[in-house]
Amino acid sequence: MSASSHHQKWQISETEREIYRQRSQASSLAKAKAMRGEGKQPIHPINQPRLNPETLMPQQPNNGWKTLSLFSGGGGLDLGFEQAGYTHVASYDILPEAGITLHQNRPQWQIFAGETGDVTKIDWRPYRGMVDVIQGGPPCQPFSIAGRQKGQDDSRDMFPQFIRAILEIEPQVFIAENVPALVGKKFSQYVREIIEQPLAGKYHWTKFILQAPDFGIPQVRQRVFFVGFRDAKIAAKYQPPKPTHTWEHLAKNQRQQGDKSSGARQPVQLNLFSAAPKPLNLCMGVREALGLPDIGFDTLAPTIRSALTGPRHTTSVLSSVSAQKTWEKLQIWQNGVAVNREKARLFVAENGHFRLSVADCAIIQGFPDAWQIHGAVYMALGQIGNAVPPPLAYHIALSVANLLRMRNGGLETGFLR
Ligand SMILES: C[S@@+](CC[C@H](N)C(=O)[O-])C[C@H]1O[C@@H](n2cnc3c(N)ncnc32)[C@H](O)[C@@H]1O
Repeated sequence: MSASSHHQKWQISETEREIYRQRSQASSLAKAKAMRGEGKQPIHPINQPRLNPETLMPQQPNNGWKTLSLFSGGGGLDLGFEQAGYTHVASYDILPEAGITLHQNRPQWQIFAGETGDVTKIDWRPYRGMVDVIQGGPPCQPFSIAGRQKGQDDSRDMFPQFIRAILEIEPQVFIAENVPALVGKKFSQYVREIIEQPLAGKYHWTKFILQAPDFGIPQVRQRVFFVGFRDAKIAAKYQPPKPTHTWEHLAKNQRQQGDKSSGARQPVQLNLFSAAPKPLNLCMGVREALGLPDIGFDTLAPTIRSALTGPRHTTSVLSSVSAQKTWEKLQIWQNGVAVNREKARLFVAENGHFRLSVADCAIIQGFPDAWQIHGAVYMALGQIGNAVPPPLAYHIALSVANLLRMRNGGLETGFLR
């Protein structure tokens, strides 16, 4: 179990705890039987994913911009920025397992994790003049509809720390990511007082919501981004990234079955571009992305929940009751995610549906197979579910880099050179 202050257990009654305990015991027994080869005969061959998320974010040449990452988690934003050509300065996260994930994928990066990664303890001033862009996704639980929405009364609220880092370092650009609920009515005063007032007069920003499938990620997922510039003229020219993919063909499937988790049915207040006339590519449905056989139905995966939020650690990716209907129609089993594809094949789901593995969930979140997420299943799923899909991060990073390049007629790379 993680000692991270990021994870707060929910208060549940003894009866509820007992139900969870019994369920998980039964599942462990069934799993152990399956692993001994005494379970049901496997029915699904090991899948070969058809989606390679690397193709959604082709590596760009180094652009000279230096980026510092706060709340780095499993590295969704960090990987997207690297693919977009940025130079990594350092990553900070309080979760030791996140540090291991980053280190095993990028041993050359400077990574601060666990106690040394706690942003509340860092004096950021030594980074002044060494960083062009600060990026980070402060924990979303204080604002998430899936959480209790206590905002600044939640001890996990780290936005003030993110703002402090910006003010101490004074980078040219900051990029903050969070759940769309943050820009809803409930938190308008919070956004004004905690995020915007301290930056007023020093930065010029825009905020907008992006949808993951607009960038080829086979999952219903919306995130809000704040992108701020020190230079008002640059800020005035900034355009959020435009979709590269369309998913109308998949959204229709979700509408037909009345799934409330479909992004297409949710109000999108700030996404200026979801009605772009001719996006270039078709976003894959989740079955196609995972290389599963055609069953005559495919659509986006429902939003993958982070296994580190909620009443207890879990190996389920189920985010809502309506999402369950979609998983069922997809014939994908969303609970008891297996550590790898071989074990998923052996542990046949009660209803015969395809069992997900950590690697499959990573693909659904836009992580390439090569990016290994460290930790037990719940911990890996926590990092995956918390992440900005790297291709989404990539397009945000590119939208900023392209603008900065334009500013200097394409000649200069990096403000600090
Ligand atoms: C939403 S996740 C960020 C995900 C990341 N941006 C990505 O794209 O993969 C928030 C992260 O903040 C981290 N965190 C929470 N409190 C922290 C603190 N005091 N110092 C550093 N990191 C913290 C959590 O461990 C978690 O990994």
